[in-house]
Amino acid sequence: MEISAVVMAAGKSTRMKSKHSKVVFQVSGKPIIQWVADALQEAGCQDQVYIVGEQQAEIRGVLGENVAYVLQEEQRGTGHAVMQAAPFLEGRNGLTIVLPGDCPMVSADTIKKALDAFDSAESNCAAIIITAEADDPTGYGRIIRGADGNVIKIVEHKDCTEEELKVREINSSMYVFKTPLLLSALGRIGANNAQKEYYLTDTIGILIGDGYTVGAVVCDFDDTRGVNDRIQLAQVRQIMNRRIIERHMRNGVEIVDPNAVWIHHAVEIGRDTVIFPGTTLMGNTNIGEDCIISENTRIDCSDIGDGTQIDNSIVVSSTIGKDCRIGPFTHVRAGCKIDDHVTLGAYVEVKESIIGEYTRARHLTYIGDSKVGRNVNFGCGTVTCNFDGQDKVGCTIEDNVFIGGNSNIVSAVVLGRDCYIAAGSTITTDVPPLSLGIGRSKQVNKDKWVAEKSRSRGENYIKLDDRRSEV
Ligand code: UD1
Ligand code: MG
Repeated sequence: MEISAVVMAAGKSTRMKSKHSKVVFQVSGKPIIQWVADALQEAGCQDQVYIVGEQQAEIRGVLGENVAYVLQEEQRGTGHAVMQAAPFLEGRNGLTIVLPGDCPMVSADTIKKALDAFDSAESNCAAIIITAEADDPTGYGRIIRGADGNVIKIVEHKDCTEEELKVREINSSMYVFKTPLLLSALGRIGANNAQKEYYLTDTIGILIGDGYTVGAVVCDFDDTRGVNDRIQLAQVRQIMNRRIIERHMRNGVEIVDPNAVWIHHAVEIGRDTVIFPGTTLMGNTNIGEDCIISENTRIDCSDIGDGTQIDNSIVVSSTIGKDCRIGPFTHVRAGCKIDDHVTLGAYVEVKESIIGEYTRARHLTYIGDSKVGRNVNFGCGTVTCNFDGQDKVGCTIEDNVFIGGNSNIVSAVVLGRDCYIAAGSTITTDVPPLSLGIGRSKQVNKDKWVAEKSRSRGENYIKLDDRRSEV
């Protein structure tokens, strides 16, 4: 059977009070409209057309050119939106799924349920509506059923009678129609209602008036939630996040406070890893088993090996090996490849660098654009000076190098294997393997300098101990 989908996404998103279309806002790391497209795809519907308005560029930017677009120049209601797809639907004989673009919680399961309902419905069934029981149905269109329990019509909140306002079964704005019947009904809707809009919901009453039946599939309200304002956006994000977190917990991940951790949809986490509050795991992040991700850590699009511990740190677009100790307050910037058993401690920043196993930079160090071997020790305050004012060029630091504290390694020097760098050096030329590089002025001790200075000022030098006793 030919299955097409029309997604309505031309609305102005007035209630969001934003310059962006509401359908490009992210929920769990994926734009709302992409959730809709993925659910359709997973339900087996590739043939998708998106009704777009003046913010179409943003939507095209998300979905690309594998789907079709139709411009609705003036937003005259959901019925008018679907009418714009008529040229796309004409001549088709199968079913059309209609979805709003603002419902990120829609799943392939929900869509499949509606398609299955068609299979088991009588032959004169014209449409299936996806509905839900809402605790608070305010704002939603209500499903009005007859004495026999069959759907008669949908009435928008603003057009409801007192009696209709009491109905808690709401229209999710997701439907499956027989394509020719949808087109026929769309041609007959008017805008004689409270909002002076062409309501898609009116097609239901029209089809029933024609003698067809309309079925309803009742789903969990959460699966039908739409995003109309920023409060609903926050609610949907929270529900989606809770679902993702519960999936990880069922898979053996320990999440200490599920209300204080945010995990994007594509993140993978191994068993017995513990995630502490304040942590955000984003993008295609993959965390191994037995890791400890402590408070306030953000890991974005990175791979973390088994047994690694990361505390109060930021890791972006990088790979970290097994059994590493990262943090607190470490910044691993994009493009790092860090091998196993590496330690990066407080106020260490690493950028686009390769770091070999067992290497340690425990405090106050910057490593940029560099290639670092295994078992290297960075003393406190080491800086790879990788910027010459124009280009970023890193250093090469070979295996077992020991760098004394407060040293500057100016690019693009090579520190040969097993060499030592004296503390406080500024190294500007290569250091051969197994040697000591000292790049600082020689220390001079001036004997009895303090006493002589005091005397020249006409003062008597007082020993420190005596001075203390004076105070
Ligand atoms: C709609 C339904 C209501 C349902 C609710 C569920 C109608 C008349 N009402 O109301 O029964 O309970 O959804 O969330 O259908 N859009 C266009 N062009 C337009 C107008 C809207 O593309 O001219 C798009 C919007 O971008 C949005 C979707 O259609 O993605 C729904 O529009 P919205 O304004 O959110 O409708 P609701 O008032 O929520
Ligand atoms: Mg809506």
